[in-house]
Amino acid sequence: MLRTSFLRLLGRTGASKLSLLEDFGPRYYGSGSLSARDDASDARAYFTTPIFYVNAAPHIGHLYSALLADALCRHRRLRSPSTAATRFSTGTDEHGLKIQQAAATAGLAPTELCDRISEQFQQLFQEAGISCTDFIRTTEARHRVAVQQFWGVLKSRGLLYKGLYEGWYCASDECFLPEAKVTWQPGPSGDSLPVSLESGHPVSWTKEENYIFRLSQFREPLQRWLRGNPQAITPEPFHHVVLQWLDEELPDLSVSRRSSHLHWGIPVPGDDSQTIYVWLDALVNYLTVIGYPNAEFKFWWPATSHIIGKDILKFHAIYWPAFLLGAGMSPPQRIYVHSHWTVCGQKMSKSLGNVVDPRTCLNRYTVDGFRYFLLRQGVPNWDCDYYDEKVVKLLNSELADALGGLLNRCTAKRINPSETYPAFCTNCFPSEPGLMGPSVRAQAEDYALVSAVATLPKRVADHYDNFQIYKALEAVSSCVRQTNGFVQRHAPWKLNWDSPVDAPWLSTVLHVALECLRVFGTLLQPVTPSLADKLLSRLGVSVSERSLGKLYFLPRFYGHPCPFEGRRLGPETGVLFPKLDQSRTWVVKAHRT
Ligand code: MSP
Repeated sequence: MLRTSFLRLLGRTGASKLSLLEDFGPRYYGSGSLSARDDASDARAYFTTPIFYVNAAPHIGHLYSALLADALCRHRRLRSPSTAATRFSTGTDEHGLKIQQAAATAGLAPTELCDRISEQFQQLFQEAGISCTDFIRTTEARHRVAVQQFWGVLKSRGLLYKGLYEGWYCASDECFLPEAKVTWQPGPSGDSLPVSLESGHPVSWTKEENYIFRLSQFREPLQRWLRGNPQAITPEPFHHVVLQWLDEELPDLSVSRRSSHLHWGIPVPGDDSQTIYVWLDALVNYLTVIGYPNAEFKFWWPATSHIIGKDILKFHAIYWPAFLLGAGMSPPQRIYVHSHWTVCGQKMSKSLGNVVDPRTCLNRYTVDGFRYFLLRQGVPNWDCDYYDEKVVKLLNSELADALGGLLNRCTAKRINPSETYPAFCTNCFPSEPGLMGPSVRAQAEDYALVSAVATLPKRVADHYDNFQIYKALEAVSSCVRQTNGFVQRHAPWKLNWDSPVDAPWLSTVLHVALECLRVFGTLLQPVTPSLADKLLSRLGVSVSERSLGKLYFLPRFYGHPCPFEGRRLGPETGVLFPKLDQSRTWVVKAHRT
């Protein structure tokens, strides 16, 4: 049905476009269940973060966007470890009025400001372990080629026309606003100034001749795309919001500005008096990265997952798919949307002085600690509030005490003197619950633990798929608690290796706990890569044994051999996660109102 509608749409612009659609269409129109073709496209996955404005230094919100994409991508690599099959891009958005004005205010040439801030993003992402395969800057020559080519395709399809644009423009948000989205507020000198209702940023009245994109033609195709692909935008409430927007009128969109007003950008091909609208310029980055306009980009497109903040949903879920459809391409496969971080209940802003510097946080809380915090506490469906005490409390309780303590309890020399992965005794822990016998020691709660950990990888994968990474971490954390309960219940420190009655059960308790830890370590890799590496190395799990495909939990319980049984543990490398001092709580407290 979808396919027919796109063909109808393209019918207006000529038969030659049909072949382009054939190139892209079949991969996109899946049946919903996994077919051989889906499997083929499933073999590759292209993740993207938004590209970041270079008007100011990065803050924790930016890092959060990148971390979500990183965790999704790393989880995907764990599922299919062939790294050739994943691509992950990020970068900086360097053109437009916002940057032009920021450079002027800073007394810098735009290129200077761009170089400086882009470098800060690159450094931050490197320090934070963002495993991107590409970093793009929109000021690169390859991007200009891609944007101008894309523009040419839209033009040749009759989707651009020249017309008079008159309305409000918000330079901070780089967007046009209808009258209903503008309000008046008292300015610094007491007079009333127009601002965006949503962002509160100043707007100005613009009246000029521009190139206009026939966005209005795409309302129905977009509705059909979304209705036919209920998972296109995740979490669901955002999908719903976009459909609601599409119930309203969808006016055509101005996609260029007069060069005399906006010179910092990519000129319209064949018309130097106009500069391409920065959002059209920016969105095309997703194609530039994968080689557009060269045919190689078809390998990755549309097996794409865009990770974005809620403030840029309209650009990604309406403008971008419309541009793509207009150019004869499929919309991206998935758009994952997250909400924002506030600080002590307030939006982060330079003027409030409450911007949280992510590099300081990485230093204070360690890279893995801060990654864990943001991903464990950040809920995509609604905004989250940041304050330092929360970081210390969470990391101490979940990483230092619960997980680190568990590892320590099961590997410490006094409990595990042979420093091996001990044997599992099926007589002590038979696979059938409720069996009675002199050697049976397992209790009902122990079976509940085995069942919880056995189903954990699938539950975690489902949470990743629904973009609820915090729930995946919550599930892991709950299993860690359950495992600690198991150890506490059976108190291995009270059992004696020299007793023929105790020894098989002691060995089994440690075996089960180490197996649980192996699952936790494997599942934590996308979020806390170094900590997970440390944990798995201590357990003696080799690098080739760390993918999800190789994660056979507690095989001895299910009657299979266990490759780890009897294996020497890895070397002791100190505490898994150092306990943080509450006095490390700093800056943000001082700003609390
Ligand atoms: N340049 C555009 C994106 C173009 S993509 C083709 C842009 N840049 S941005 O720097 O303003 O924002 C980049 C990302 O950071 C967005 O996903 C945005 O939602 C996210 N965040 C900005 N502030 C944030 C918080 N306070 N909290 C969480 N994410 C935040 O928009």
